[in-house]
Parts: sequence; C-alpha cells; structure tokens
Amino acid sequence: MSDEKTHFGFQSVPLGEKQGRVNEVFRSVAGRYDLMNDLMSAGLHRLWKEALVSTLRPPRERAYRHLDVAGGTGDVAFRILDGAGPQTHVTVLDINGEMLKVGEERAGRAYDGRIAFVEANAEDLPFGPKTFDSYTVAFGIRNVPRIDQALREAHRVLKPGGRFLCLEFSKVDVPVLDRVYDAYSFNVIPRLGQMVTGDAESYQYLVESIRRFPPPAAFARMIEEAGFRRVTHRSLTAGIVAIHSGWKI
Ligand SMILES: C[S@@+](CC[C@H](N)C(=O)[O-])C[C@H]1O[C@@H](n2cnc3c(N)ncnc32)[C@H](O)[C@@H]1O
Repeated sequence: MSDEKTHFGFQSVPLGEKQGRVNEVFRSVAGRYDLMNDLMSAGLHRLWKEALVSTLRPPRERAYRHLDVAGGTGDVAFRILDGAGPQTHVTVLDINGEMLKVGEERAGRAYDGRIAFVEANAEDLPFGPKTFDSYTVAFGIRNVPRIDQALREAHRVLKPGGRFLCLEFSKVDVPVLDRVYDAYSFNVIPRLGQMVTGDAESYQYLVESIRRFPPPAAFARMIEEAGFRRVTHRSLTAGIVAIHSGWKI
C-alpha cells in the first residue's frame, strides 16, 4: 500500500484513508446538511448556487445532458432543472448514499424522467467518454482525495465543447473581513454544528478543509493540467467562494 499522505482538514492522513473519513462526515450530517448550510451561510449558499447555474445557462430548446458531481442532496441539480428546458437531463453523482437519499426524497416526483441519482466516486466516473454537455461540482472537489484524477475524469466524460464549472470556497481577499471570517469560521461554525447536528468535529473539518484548498490561481492551473482550456475564475462575496470555469475544446 502507498505511504503517500494527504490532508484531512489540518491533519495529515494516508491518502487511502481520506475518503473513508470524508464519507463519515457526510453520513453523520446528511439529515441536517441543508439546514446547516442555511444557518452557517445566512442563506448565502443559495445565491452562490444561483450564480453557478446562471453561469451555466442551460439551454431551453434542445436535448442537454448535465452531470452534477458531489451533488449531495440535489441543491444544484434542482436549480439547473428549474431553469432549463424539458429536454435537459441531470445526473446527480455522489459517493455517499445517505446524501443522495435525502436528495431523492427532496426531489419526490417533481423531476420524473429528468433526474438520476448515481452513487459513485468522482475519481472513477461510471460513464463513457464524451457523455455530458456540462459538469458542475459545488463545494465537493476539496473533499476528494485525488483532485487531479477527478478533474481528468471530468474532462473525459465531457463532450468536445462541454463546460466544466466548479463552485468552491476560496480565499477572503478583504483586509479585516478576513479576520472576522476566520473568527466566525473557527469559533461559531463548529459550535453551531454541535447544536444542530450533534457533531462539532464534522464542521471543524469543514472549516479546516477550506483553509487547505489551493488558492484560486493554483486551482485554475490544476484545471488546465487536466486538459481544460479558456480557464477562468470569478470571486464572489469578497472571495469567500469562487466559480471556476473551463472548456473541453
Ligand atoms: C459539501 S457537500 C456538497 C453537496 C452539494 N454539491 C451542495 O453544494 O450542497 C460535499 C459532497 O461531496 C461528496 N463527496 C466527497 N467525496 C466524493 C467523491 N470522491 N466522489 C463523489 N462525491 C464525493 C460528499 O459525499 C458530499 O455529498
């Protein structure tokens, strides 16, 4: 077995152990995941996801296949389907069956025939090459142990002309606000997690994993190294999050 290390929040762990620990985080919080997102971000995650979907602009008039990776409880997928035409189909893929179960319950019968939930790993997508018109991953990529492998898989399953979009926490770039944000993240979020989900540790992991994620320019280079072109990124809300974009040419 490889002795390669990676990080799980601020801890250094063997690469082969990270996914199991991430899965335990999301298994533990799945039932209260959506409520916690609203509380922690004061509803801002909704605006960030809307910004992601407006950047994608799914077509209204033609057949279109979209893949939402680390799609969890379906938040991004539902927004895409709400804004798209009837010929749009979205596959929500996540490694965690409990997150997907919440998503399926939320979807009910609202999107019958236009949505599929698939339990699989972003590093090894169970689809052929050139299957999808677009790919999104929201607040998911930093949890994946081999990000470079997940990006290569994104490139493989996209059709030529397909678009990759990633919404992820980024680096706050406003003096003073950065300190307020840090104080809020480390003091308030784990306590809130304890109150709402009974699990402070999972939310401690969340805030630490955000700090360990590469800065936007470095992540943009990783997207390019996976084969994407015209790679750009846009910061939102003083750099709390960023939307990264790349095209398969
Ligand atoms: C913070 S949640 C984001 C959920 C959703 N995209 C959203 O924005 O609300 C991160 C998700 O990544 C999933 N995940 C972690 N590692 C993964 C992997 N290797 N492959 C696919 N999904 C993964 C987790 O199970 C979890 O549902």
